[in-house]
Amino acid sequence: SANVAKDAAGELTVAGVPVSRIAAEHGTPAYVLDENDFRGRARAFRDGFAGWDVYYAGKAFLCTAVARWVAEEGLCLDVCSEGELTVALRGGVDPARIGFHGNNKSVRALRRALEVGVGRIIVDSFHEIERLAELTAGAERRAPVMIRVTAGVEAHTHEYIATAHEDQKFGFSITSGDALEAARRVLAADGLELRGLHSHIGSQIFDSAGFEVAAKRVLALHARVAAELGHTMPETDLGGGFGIAYTTQDDPSTPAVLATEMRAIVEHECRGLGIAVPHLSIEPGRAIVGPSTFTLYEVGTVKEVALDGGARRTYVSVDGGMSDNIRTALYDADYSCTLASRASDAAPELARVVGHHCEAGDIVVKDEFLPADVAPGDLLAVPATGAYCRSMASNYNHALRPPVIAVRDGESRVVVRRETFDDLLATDVGGSEE
Ligand code: LLP
Repeated sequence: SANVAKDAAGELTVAGVPVSRIAAEHGTPAYVLDENDFRGRARAFRDGFAGWDVYYAGKAFLCTAVARWVAEEGLCLDVCSEGELTVALRGGVDPARIGFHGNNKSVRALRRALEVGVGRIIVDSFHEIERLAELTAGAERRAPVMIRVTAGVEAHTHEYIATAHEDQKFGFSITSGDALEAARRVLAADGLELRGLHSHIGSQIFDSAGFEVAAKRVLALHARVAAELGHTMPETDLGGGFGIAYTTQDDPSTPAVLATEMRAIVEHECRGLGIAVPHLSIEPGRAIVGPSTFTLYEVGTVKEVALDGGARRTYVSVDGGMSDNIRTALYDADYSCTLASRASDAAPELARVVGHHCEAGDIVVKDEFLPADVAPGDLLAVPATGAYCRSMASNYNHALRPPVIAVRDGESRVVVRRETFDDLLATDVGGSEE
């Protein structure tokens, strides 16, 4: 994150707080979230995309403090479950500024969203349109709906996080005609108001070519709905997915550059189609929260292993692992790592940072050069863990999920506390023998 520095003794400080103090006060592992960095990125999107709405994608990471920051910085919020909706409301977000996603929202969640009056519900199946039509029949206020479409784009990212090709579960296909049919059915429902189309092509994307193709197809469908169904939809959402730097190999664009590119694409397409430019929105998650956070671990053991051909690999075991960062195991994601608690003159050595879980795939950082004298008690920092780490954390091996510690102006405070064994056992009710 932006406000990280090494002090004279080689110790990492973040927003003026040394990591040894964070470890002493809050324990490890811990997610360390730089509040001003988060707010700065939120503002950079808001200002870069001025005139558009920026929905922070809460799935990347959400807690009530973050929901509040998002609202304070003038962003809207994208939620994709009743749980996220609950946190957003508890954080004081105006329901009218919440968008509700999901390919299989429960009836209960839909009812709740309607009750509180979310700003838009993004529908993703014919069954859902039918359900919503029933739930809103005869209602006083029509429910604002957007249609999630599949733009048919092959985004260059991991298969599990690419979402705009045809053969996956999200969206109505534009090419098959389903998307147009969805628009027809929403328009036919008295309780629903068709606000626009929504496209999200995937995540951790660096090349704007995918957004360009998606925007073309989505806007062409806007024009078709107007021409064939006589309804001009006022809005379009082009989704999130903007890539961040996990290692020095990655070179992401700034929000300002992205905004310039996307504005040009949209204006060009609308001119070509002869339609007015709709009100636009985007949904960045990772690009706002990802770089704001690092995970602080303590080293427990160090082991050298002989590889075929005589080489050796150092395994550095930390007190967390795949339960607090599943992304390396799940997506083969790359992370970097740094010795955070002290300086070292020792020669750099190729190391692998692993967790304490009971499986060999429990890797946090596949390959990193760490000083050869890294030893038990050292603190390691793994940057860029703000997105999809705490939010995808598990209790595997009955691990306690780490806290989120917010740092600002030389102070640290807990925004999500560490779990306790009592938290874990609270759901373990003992079964029928009691
Ligand atoms: N909007 C929609 C409809 C989405 O499905 C997503 C992410 C976003 C916005 C935000 O995308 P972002 O800007 O954060 O890339 N767990 C995976 C990422 C899954 C993304 C799911 N949808 C990972 O750890 O890489």
